Parts: sequence; structure tokens; C-alpha cells
Amino acid sequence: MTAIIRALDLTKVFGRSTAVDHVSFEVRQGEIFGFLGPNGAGKTTTTRMLTGVIPPDAGSATILGHDIRSEPVQAKQRFGVVPETSNAYTDLTAWQNLMLMGELYGLPRARAAQRSSELLGMVGLAERKDQKVQAYSKGMKQRLILAMALIHEPELLFLDEPTSGLDVESTRMILSLLRDLNRGGTTIFLTTHNMEEANRLCHRVGIIRAGKIAAIDAPEKLKAAIERVHTIEVSFDREVPGDALAGLAGVTGLNRTGDKWQITAENRDTVIRSLVEFSRENGAAIVTLHTLTQSLDDAFLRLTREARP
Ligand SMILES: Nc1ncnc2c1ncn2[C@@H]1O[C@H](COP(=O)(O)OP(=O)(O)O)[C@@H](O)[C@H]1O
Ligand SMILES: [Mg+2]
Repeated sequence: MTAIIRALDLTKVFGRSTAVDHVSFEVRQGEIFGFLGPNGAGKTTTTRMLTGVIPPDAGSATILGHDIRSEPVQAKQRFGVVPETSNAYTDLTAWQNLMLMGELYGLPRARAAQRSSELLGMVGLAERKDQKVQAYSKGMKQRLILAMALIHEPELLFLDEPTSGLDVESTRMILSLLRDLNRGGTTIFLTTHNMEEANRLCHRVGIIRAGKIAAIDAPEKLKAAIERVHTIEVSFDREVPGDALAGLAGVTGLNRTGDKWQITAENRDTVIRSLVEFSRENGAAIVTLHTLTQSLDDAFLRLTREARP
């Protein structure tokens, strides 16, 4: 497998905080790679370093074999970017934005015009092409930005939270376009804070939290790892010492909310047995005992919290 993106110990420091901390990963040819993490995790900063917007403070990366420091121009000719904040000029029309993008990439005018027509059709904006972008809805704008990123037929596409804040219809359309592009051979690197989206779309997912990579794997494997961890909620008819509960066999985490204790465990059965024994030994009757099924988002937040190296 050829690595299309190879990042090695990429690091970015802003003042006193390390936004991206020795991040290493590879994106293989032909895959959709998801960079998944909560807000502030360092997704945009990593993307900006890879796409040559800001220089890394340490570490290195190659994109399609080009070093991002020494050959940024060669790399840029071969990838497209849908940035986190819109790069479309709102006082220009969609057509003008696309033609301008073509000019930036050095496309001959006739080629840029042909490509613009194709792309406008593809993203469903052909009929609105002569309208100024300021009149566009958020979803329309995002589809235009995707078209702009594709003007030079890149082999690799970066997208920074492409569906964030979009309506269902535009989200569906963008995800389906990305699948089509990928089927046509385009390698895709996308960031998202939406686990479900990463799960549906990506071949592999890297989870980033507080600037560090927590895990890289196929989404179903990450999900399986997450689902192995269970939450049990218990309450007693009297005060019990938290230390004693935390020390019980099978307990990997303990939290208190009101009169209830939330216990995380890899093995539910072991914990329930030790709770019953604890109850008997301490003369504290169990009032409620629930095992909780967690949403993917909860699970994801917990996994990234626990995966801090
Ligand atoms: N230009 C900047 N100056 C200072 N701090 C920044 C800058 N850009 C990002 N950060 C900080 O770096 C961290 C990572 O941000 P970012 O990469 O935007 O995260 P994400 O895209 O995952 O939400 C955050 O704590 C953010 O506040
Ligand atoms: Mg971001």
C-alpha cells in the first residue's frame, strides 16, 4: 500500500499550549481516512499544517511524496482543500469563484470553464451559478466550496468538518459525493467530531484528543473496543465510602451523581458480583442497580478521555 499522507511527530505550539503533540499517522491510497475528535482536539491545526497553511514547529510530513516544507507547491497542485471556514468570495457568483480557482491552479480558461460546468452539475448548483454566493444557504455554499476544491481534479482531498452545522439534505448530498469521488479513486482525509459520520463513511479512523492520537483503526474495531466498556449505576440505602467502591474487583472508573454511583467496568458480571458482596459485608442495601447502554457520542468522549497517554 502506498502512503498518500505520511505524518511523523507533527507538532504545533501556540504560546504555552501544544495544539498538536507529536502526531503520526499514514493515509493509504484510495481510502477515506477520518480524523475524529472533539472540539479543540487539534484537527484543524493538523489539517492546516498538512495543507501548507501554517508550518509545523516540529516533525514532518509528506503528501503524495512531497515534503510539506521543501515542496509545498508541488504538493498543492495535487490535492484539494475544503477548509473549516469558507474560502468562497460572497460578492462573486459561484461561476466566478470556480473560474478564479481555476486561474489559481493555472488551468487554461476553456478547461476551467468546462470543469466548472461539470462540477456545478455534480453539486446541484447549475441553475444558481450566476447568483452571488451571499444569497446561498449554508449547505449550498458548502457544496460550492467542495466543487472549488475539485477544480484541478486532485488525487487527494482534505475536508475539515465538511458537514458541520449543515441541514440533513446537504449533509447527505456531500457524504454521497465523497463516496462517489472515492470510488473514482480520490483519497480522502476528513476531520469530524461526529462519530456516527466517521463510522458510516470512513475506512479507517484516527482519534485525536488534546493534540494526541488516541487510536487508529477501522471504525468497527474502535466501536467494538468502546462497547467493551460498560457503565453500571448503583445506589445504596446509606452512605458508603467511595474509596471502598473504587477498590472493588472489576471497577475501572467511579463517578458520583446525587445519591447514585456510576461505575465503569470491562466486565459487568464481575462488578455486579462484587457490589452484591460489598452490600452484604457493609450492611448497605442496594436500592437501585442499572446497567446503562451509552450513546456512541458518550462512548467516544469517554474513550478519548481514558486514552490520554
Ligand atoms: N491560531 C491559533 N492561536 C492560538 N491557539 C490556537 C490557534 N489555532 C488553534 N488554537 C488552539 O489549538 C487547539 C486546537 O485547535 P483546533 O486545531 O482548531 O482544534 P479542532 O479543529 O480539533 O477543534 C485549541 O486549543 C485552540 O484554541
Ligand atoms: Mg476545527
